[in-house]
Amino acid sequence: MKIFVIGSGGREHTLVWKLNNSEICEEIYCCPGNGGIQQEAEIVNLDISDFKSLADFTKEKSIDLTVVGPEIPLVNGIVNFFNECGLKIFGPTKEAAILEGSKVFAKQFMKKHNIPAADFAVFDSSDGECLKKARELINRNENAMVVKADGLAAGKGVTVCKNVAETEWAVERIVLRKAFGSAGNKFVIEDKLSGEEVSILAFVDGENIVPMLSSQDYKQIYDSDSGPNTGGMGAYAPVPFLSSEVNKEIYDKIILPTVKGLKEDGIVYKGVLYAGLMLTEDGPKALEFNCRFGDPETQPILFLLKSDLIEIMEKTINGELKGVSLEWNDKFSACVVVASEGYPGSYTKGMNVTGLKELKTIENLKVFHAGTKLVDDKIFTNGGRVFGVTSSGKTLRESLDNAYMGVDRISFEGKYFRKDIGFRAFRYE
Ligand code: AMP
Ligand code: GLY
Repeated sequence: MKIFVIGSGGREHTLVWKLNNSEICEEIYCCPGNGGIQQEAEIVNLDISDFKSLADFTKEKSIDLTVVGPEIPLVNGIVNFFNECGLKIFGPTKEAAILEGSKVFAKQFMKKHNIPAADFAVFDSSDGECLKKARELINRNENAMVVKADGLAAGKGVTVCKNVAETEWAVERIVLRKAFGSAGNKFVIEDKLSGEEVSILAFVDGENIVPMLSSQDYKQIYDSDSGPNTGGMGAYAPVPFLSSEVNKEIYDKIILPTVKGLKEDGIVYKGVLYAGLMLTEDGPKALEFNCRFGDPETQPILFLLKSDLIEIMEKTINGELKGVSLEWNDKFSACVVVASEGYPGSYTKGMNVTGLKELKTIENLKVFHAGTKLVDDKIFTNGGRVFGVTSSGKTLRESLDNAYMGVDRISFEGKYFRKDIGFRAFRYE
């Protein structure tokens, strides 16, 4: 089969690597890709927001399956466009991807279908009274709350506040300073939940659900989960402290009702459903849904997947997931993100990277590239998150030790990484 992957991050490098490992993969293309993907797939230089050019390319090359990594093309309807052209594509339509594309939609959907989540209120930034109403709510509540811009804001639209003053500031940032542009036309204020965060990703074919291994993402930039949120600084799978009882509760109370609710509402959801969850004292609650694979969760999850990913994706598209179960390596996997100093703020690009060649020969370790560029056989930094060094081991600690060994061998000016990925799991040992 001929496969076409859309995206340029560590998630897409992982997808290219895993799809390419399939016996039925003959050729693989990626747009726009990165320095690492370029060494494993044919790079396609097109604009990923230009669906017509992407579809034309797909027809011209007789591509059998297109796989979309990031949320923006999904929310903007790339799957609808390809479907209309009769082209096979993996991911939800825009009517389904709105579960990620609009926080207001997601919150109202969860409420309607009794999916456990934080209590919330919705505000319209164009309402002249909205600041007043928001301040009233915040002061009545007295606790710190969470403020979420409605639309996509590259993972930066959510502010988890420390106190009432910060909650008010987060609202003013959306309403007065328009910090998230039109993504802040509406916003949500919700109760702040506490507990351990985990991610559950599942393949969904409109009706049937095939969950993947649980994972935990480390979103904040500094050790001990401090500093601003990033796209994710590391992740591991599976989560050792997630009991089978809690896992079942997540499935029964959150994942299953979400898929059923979508169907009831006339939305056919096909693709990966990603549930971001908080394990609270009152049981698991949904924080958010994403309509795609997580980055960096995909790195450890697919590192452990034994089943053929092309087959699973085709079954997802064809509505044939009933009775399918995935085969996993009975190990742990960890991914440590190596970033450019300054990320998630401003950072310098174009640093020469050394140490990668030696790592290629190490078994059980793979350096997935994110923001990199290949020039004359040399790799240069080209983004905030640069690599996701991924490894496996018999224990979580072993998988992390292996990944950190890889991280230590990579050098470039301004290299930054968190030194404590996995620490939350070790507190339960
Ligand atoms: P979201 O994009 O909605 O997942 O929010 C990004 C991050 O903000 C989540 O991964 C959580 O770490 C945090 N977060 C979101 N909602 C809440 C909440 N209600 N309580 C506490 N933390 C939250
Ligand atoms: N790692 C979080 C996300 O992919 O949204």
